[in-house]
Amino acid sequence: MNLKKLYNEKLTTAEKAVGHIKSGDRVVIGLGVGEAFALTDAMAKNSAAYKNVEVVQMLPLGNSEYVLPEMEPHFSYNTLFVSGKAREAVSSGRSDFTPCYLSRVPTLWSSDLPPDVALVQVSSPDEHGYCSLGVGVDYSKHAAEAAKLVIAQVNAQMPRTLGDSFIHISQMDYIVEQDQALIEIPKPSISEVEKAIGEHCASLVKDGDCLQLGIGAIPEAVLLFLKERKDLGIHTEMFSDGVMELVNAGVINNTKKNYNPGKIIAAFLMGSRALYDFVDNNPMVAMHPTTYTNDPYLAGQNDNLVSINSCVQVDLLGQVSSETVGMTQISGVGGQVDFVRAAAVSKGGRSIIAMPSTAKGGQISKIVPLLDEGAVVTTNRYDVQYVVTEYGIANLRNRTNRERARMLIEIAHPKFRDELKEVFKSRFNADM
Ligand code: COA
Repeated sequence: MNLKKLYNEKLTTAEKAVGHIKSGDRVVIGLGVGEAFALTDAMAKNSAAYKNVEVVQMLPLGNSEYVLPEMEPHFSYNTLFVSGKAREAVSSGRSDFTPCYLSRVPTLWSSDLPPDVALVQVSSPDEHGYCSLGVGVDYSKHAAEAAKLVIAQVNAQMPRTLGDSFIHISQMDYIVEQDQALIEIPKPSISEVEKAIGEHCASLVKDGDCLQLGIGAIPEAVLLFLKERKDLGIHTEMFSDGVMELVNAGVINNTKKNYNPGKIIAAFLMGSRALYDFVDNNPMVAMHPTTYTNDPYLAGQNDNLVSINSCVQVDLLGQVSSETVGMTQISGVGGQVDFVRAAAVSKGGRSIIAMPSTAKGGQISKIVPLLDEGAVVTTNRYDVQYVVTEYGIANLRNRTNRERARMLIEIAHPKFRDELKEVFKSRFNADM
């Protein structure tokens, strides 16, 4: 196969490439930093040519013009995680949300949501004609394999990550070369409350553990308190700069991992340019689709797996609501339940739900007698294990209803404890 010839035959411009999208098509576009922005911007610009193109995505970070009100006759937006511009679109009724575990999202493309078109962003090809999906393997690899039409933005700034991260130029229908700086996510500032939460979570992490952490202030705060640990490993859906810093400090070396020893396993990345350079051609980092990273039984093969995630509310029985504020969908399940279950399967595993004890500037307690009307349970009370606030740690697993409620009240904010104790007495006909 003459790779150079094949590549050149597929080369086109973004404008011409998106001209192959047809009205009524379902278009799957990349997640977060992995979105092919040159293509999605060109698609939005070409909106007049389309009617009812269904765009399916998670975590839009760019211009995301396809979700704007004026685009309604041209695009409908089906989101698998409600964040950024998707929040307003879903709450106003223009867009809809499909609940799906992140471990299962790639399977949608071969079952209920087969894509007509996949828009992917990839690295430059290697000498064998393979391009890496770089920072966004997640559901994009399966989308490219399932779609009738694959349009790839080849971006020389996309790192060549290793693992199950490659697609071959023969799998692409059109190639658009466009260099573009990858979106960088600034490090969050960490408050005193988050530091206290981080310290409690870190006290549950032992030398040699394997970690799953998300993005944001709480995971970064946990990492701050792990500088003295030894031989930590990572098996996660995503990671950011804090993990790279602990690799550089010699704390994370993956040597004690019994599953994929020596490797960090992840599905997507969000952070600084330094992070993207760190993962470039780095054999320590293996990127995989979320069917691999998030499958509870595969991730649970890691002994001593510790998962750390956050939530909106916890009720006194330990039911965890992580994706709605009352009736309003504000995010999604992501990988939370996948990893809570993976940690339960893991020999020596532990799952942690960590959150500040209050929301809305301290006005309301996140530990509540009943979840808000309309709130959904994300992690159920059979799966939940540790709940952590700045006031301490509650291990709910295998505890009775009353024991759970007592432990949760002890880690609630002091100003809400009396009120919660009154509810306890009437609900359980018992003293605290
Ligand atoms: N009552 C009312 N509003 C609440 C609330 C509560 N108990 N708890 C949070 N909120 C509001 C906040 O005020 C904020 O509103 P705003 O966006 O209008 O400011 C919003 O909900 C988000 O809360 P915040 O504390 O800023 O969120 P976060 O960035 O720390 O994320 C989750 C918290 C729960 C939304 C997030 O962890 C999540 O989506 N989890 C589910 C998915 C998951 O765990 N994935 C795992 C791997 S990445």
